[in-house]
Formats: sequence, structure tokens, C-alpha cells
Amino acid sequence: MDLHNGHWSHRVGEPASDPLVTRTPHCGHSASDSTCHLLVSSSDLEVKIPTVNGIVSIDGMVVPAGEARVSVFDRGFLYGDSVYEVVRTYDLALFELGLHLARLASSAERIALSLPWTADRFDREVRRVVEASREADAPDPAAAPWNLGECSVRIVVTRGSGELGLDPGLAVEPTVVLIAVPLRGPPLAAYREGVAAWPFGGPGAPRRGGDPAAKTGEHLFHVLAVREARAHGAQEALLLDGAGSVTEGASSNVFAVRGGALETPPLGVGILAGVTRAVVLDIAGRLGIPVRERPLPLAGLESADEAFLTSTVREVLPVVRVGDRPIGPAAPGPVTRRIHAAFREAAGGGHKPGKAPASV
Ligand code: PDD
Repeated sequence: MDLHNGHWSHRVGEPASDPLVTRTPHCGHSASDSTCHLLVSSSDLEVKIPTVNGIVSIDGMVVPAGEARVSVFDRGFLYGDSVYEVVRTYDLALFELGLHLARLASSAERIALSLPWTADRFDREVRRVVEASREADAPDPAAAPWNLGECSVRIVVTRGSGELGLDPGLAVEPTVVLIAVPLRGPPLAAYREGVAAWPFGGPGAPRRGGDPAAKTGEHLFHVLAVREARAHGAQEALLLDGAGSVTEGASSNVFAVRGGALETPPLGVGILAGVTRAVVLDIAGRLGIPVRERPLPLAGLESADEAFLTSTVREVLPVVRVGDRPIGPAAPGPVTRRIHAAFREAAGGGHKPGKAPASV
């Protein structure tokens, strides 16, 4: 294992003292022919893999995270030609796996990718990686209690590999990768104090690509949005449409609270139908909190009493600052807390012996 910049790089196999001159060429040319010296066995390749503690399944074969490899000809790597989901556990039971698998199927259909496995097979294989990843993770003293010892699974299906070229017909067969890692949610302090969000895009700015209703591997717009947010000390980026309205976060849905009611953009403005968003809308209905699904201009969010983000890994996360402006008194508000408490109650987790109670 090599450490570069603190944490990257895993060397596969033991390197020869000078692999370029001591390895037998694989091309049939003599070892003194300098044109061939760049050909080394794949076991000598230094692959930059982060030192992640996790378990990966590739097309149903389960391997430690540090040994997981896919082809450089895979279209997920080359073109972001893939769909994905992120699911999480509570007390190591998968939360709303059925809804996530239904969305995976819908995303795949929207990009004409034919899933190689049935929902039953996905269900089985996801449970298998969760089971295989049940190893002790160093407890994080800053973690929210309901995240301790839990894992998340990223389900990725790419169109597969084939010859270079955009034509999807070049793909041979889809690749299925499941990545189970210890869950890294926001720290408890983020729920107690709230986080900042940073607007990105808007009138005149480049538009996001792709179909927002499909959860695909096409992410550069979102990556640049998060880069900008982090540069301003914000936890999440808020994606603005051409009219300057907030659509969703880079990896979350957005809610404002005004006069005791929730306001959130409708699916029709072009957002992902978040599983957590749906759970929150259901909770609001049960608690008798009115919901208005309508476009959310940035100024409308800034002038709200409260705001929060929803996502699988964040649950219900208070937002207390948007750009340079405080939201309300710049502290998590009562409606956000009430909804998060109800979500905690519904989702569970945090009840294992030795854990703190699962409240904020
Ligand atoms: N992202 N909007 C976008 C663009 C997202 O990527 C996500 C989730 C959400 C929230 O969806 P859900 O509640 O189903 O997690 C909304 C996942 C978690 C991610 O990319 O990590």
C-alpha cells in the first residue's frame, strides 16, 4: 500500500525493483526493444484506489474494495453511461430498498438500458454485500448516533464495455457493481446547528445535462456545483434553473417552511423523485402540516422561516444559510425538528446496545 497525499493508491502485487526493464514483454519482442517496455502485467499496475473499508460485488462476484476492478472500456467510466442508486441501512436492515430498486428500473428505462438482473436478484445481491461488509468500523465520535455501524450501498449498472465510440450498440453487456461502505452521514453537529447551502447556475449559466428524473452517472454539473459550494464553506449546492428558481440540491431535495407549511418544487420542474422526499411528504400529511408543491424562487427560499434538505444519507438536514443570507434566525426551526423527529421514529436505527438514543 502506498500513501500519496495522505490516503490514495493501492499497489497490486509486489513491484519489481524496476518493472520496465525486468518484466518479460508480453508482445513477443525482445526485452531490449524499448518500444515494448511499457507493456507490463496487469498485476504490476499501480491502480489509484482510495483506501476504502468496504465490500464490492462486480457482476455478482464479491471482493474487498481494494481489489475491485472494472475495464477501462466500460462506458460508465468513459461516458457516464450508467444508472445508480444509493441505499442505506438502519440497524443493518435496508431502508426502502423496494422503492430504490423501482427507481433504478425507471432510470434504466429512461436511458434505454436493459437491466441484466430482476428486482429479486438485485434485492438478494444487495443483502449479500451488506452481510459481507459487517466488519467493525472505527467508531466516529462526531457521527449522528443513527449512523453508527451502518452501511450504504451504491448500486451501479453501466451499459457495459465494448469498442470505443458513443454508439450504445457497441456495449456488450451491462456491468453491475455494488459498493458497500460504512455510512458517512453528516455529523450530529450538522443536525443541531444546521448547514449552509450555496446556489449554483441560474439565468445565463450553463444548463445541467441529461434527464433529471433519471439517476444516471452523468454528474459533471453536480460535481462543479459542489466544488463551488465547498469553496464557500457550504455543505450542499442548490441547483438553479434558467428562471433562477431552486430545483433541488446536487444530491438532495429542498424544502422551505413558511407560515407553518412546507414548500417544495414539484417533480415537474425537473428533479429526482427522492425517496426521502416522498417519506417526508407522507409524514407531513400524517402530522397535518400543509404542503405546497410549487416552484421555489431563490428569493422565496431566502425569505423562508426555515429550510431543510432531504436525502438517503442526510435524512432531514436543517439549512440555516443560503449563499450569504441567514434563513430565519439561522438555527434549525421547530417544523424541521418535528419532521426530522418523525422521520427518525419511522426509520429507526440507533437502538443498538451502547448507542445513544436516536434523537437530535
Ligand atoms: N442522491 N436529488 C438528487 C439529484 C440526488 O442525487 C438525490 C440522492 C436526491 C435525494 O434522493 P433520495 O432521497 O432518494 O436519496 C435528490 C444520492 C443519495 C447520492 O447521489 O448520493
